[in-house]
Amino acid sequence: MSPQALVFDAYGTLYDVHSVIQRCDQFWPGRGTALSQLWRTKQLEYTWQRSLMRRYAPFSQVTREALAYACQALKLPLASQQEDALMQQYLALAAYADVPDALASLRGRKAILSNGSPDMLDPLVKHSGLAFDAVLSVDAVKVFKPAPEVYQLAVDRLGVPKDAIGFVSSNCWDALGAKSFGFRVYWINRTGAPVDRLGFQPDGRLASLGDLPEVLH
Ligand code: 2OP
Repeated sequence: MSPQALVFDAYGTLYDVHSVIQRCDQFWPGRGTALSQLWRTKQLEYTWQRSLMRRYAPFSQVTREALAYACQALKLPLASQQEDALMQQYLALAAYADVPDALASLRGRKAILSNGSPDMLDPLVKHSGLAFDAVLSVDAVKVFKPAPEVYQLAVDRLGVPKDAIGFVSSNCWDALGAKSFGFRVYWINRTGAPVDRLGFQPDGRLASLGDLPEVLH
């Protein structure tokens, strides 16, 4: 049975966080990839740490702080104009090439459920030109994924029971958090990674978002 609604993760699933590499390389030649990777790693760690500490801060702040940490750790001097420019770049991340066609051929309601705060997420979605029935941010519940309150937000806002929601993420820990909550989960395993050992398995494992329409219809 097809899900009544599809809920997508944003960063890493629809939008490529590493599309900042070129800009990073302009500032620090040859260091863009290392910086982008550490930036993303710290950004996610800070969300988990803040959730455990019950010290929520908007993803825009978390992302800025992760950038400052990553630059310091890699010994890359970060001027405030460079920090602002890279944060600006985050509002215009590239969508993965397989996203527009896949979204266009998927039937039913489609929503985003993301760690992104509205000040980051709304301009990003607008810039990409992708259309969704709802763009939901964890900011409404002030805790990050994979807290169950976040996935419940989609149930409440979409008015669809959890077992009728198909959740799509490339972030395995997010996919398994959604599975633990009770969604039907499709993990887009873009990198050929092994599944995380968290006691759950996704319902579907796909190499590309482009494979999703065939699995669902
Ligand atoms: C998102 O919530 C986890 O980065 C991921 O968009």
